[in-house]
Amino acid sequence: MKIFRGRNFITLEDYSKQEIDFILEVSGYLKMKYILGEETPLLKDKTLFMIFFEQSTRTRNSLEAGMTQLGGHAHDLTPNKMQLSHGESAKDTAVVLSRMGEGIACRNCFYGTGNKYLNELAKHASIPVISMQDDVYHPLQAIADLLTIREYFGQNLKGLKVAITWAYATSHAKPLSVPQSQILLFPRYGMDVVVAHPEEFPLQRDVVDRAKRYAEEGGGSLSFVGDMREAVKDADIIIPKNWGGFAYFDTWEDSEEQWEMMKNNLEKHKDWRCDTDMLKLAKRHVKIMHALPADRGNEVTDEVIDGERSIVYDEAENRLHTGKAILALTMGGK
Ligand code: CP
Repeated sequence: MKIFRGRNFITLEDYSKQEIDFILEVSGYLKMKYILGEETPLLKDKTLFMIFFEQSTRTRNSLEAGMTQLGGHAHDLTPNKMQLSHGESAKDTAVVLSRMGEGIACRNCFYGTGNKYLNELAKHASIPVISMQDDVYHPLQAIADLLTIREYFGQNLKGLKVAITWAYATSHAKPLSVPQSQILLFPRYGMDVVVAHPEEFPLQRDVVDRAKRYAEEGGGSLSFVGDMREAVKDADIIIPKNWGGFAYFDTWEDSEEQWEMMKNNLEKHKDWRCDTDMLKLAKRHVKIMHALPADRGNEVTDEVIDGERSIVYDEAENRLHTGKAILALTMGGK
């Protein structure tokens, strides 16, 4: 196991299974301390700079509260508060912030550029760069999901069927990064992941290829179907989630024409909604997960997300505990 201090956290692909297990152990330790009301000043007087190009509820507040609970402080930054808005380079931003604090966290989900921006920050920063989500990955969400799954299903996840299904939403075209990080991670733990999506809403081919390789190595599996019902049949976990049709295009140009095509494609699939009929196809003990925010009534009905099968609030709470573990390990520790 490599030392954690100073390492970037942009994709869980950079972390071995042994290291991910350790992150989960630390998360459990911090969760226990939090519940017991015991202090954990592991990052006393340390500063995290959080740069959000997009809105956030869970990521922003889990990391800001997390830094407070660890004895440090987080700066809640957006481009309009920074010289980024006047074109300051990622290099200058990263070098300057590296001289003032101990960690840089960034969310940049612009398709085709977000992950590149984070890697550019990481190239020039001398402190860890932590992804708060980009266009390709959302590792903070995936690790919280894994902790939540373990809490409900135990340590041995071999053979657990997880249905990750695209779902209709009108709120916004969500990034691909949540399902992509999930398919890259879950099969490493022996889970059988089935992804369902309409043909116009694929995941990135390069990510899928790597995820299939990890599935083989980890003893899990990854398969794709074109029907939500088929995916949820006999599932232990259902994750109904919208994502944009960015990867449908050979090259994403962010043009009005492409957005219009995506909107037209979306309207063809209004019936992709997780409702109680879907739940009946799954195992009796099925759990409903969702990274949130959910487009209630579209992605998933109120009855399902508020029902007894839903564990979405436990999943959201675990963003705090796993986020703190990542901060404590990469910005502090030995
Ligand atoms: N799941 C998640 O990342 O939520 P936020 O967009 O609210 O941070």
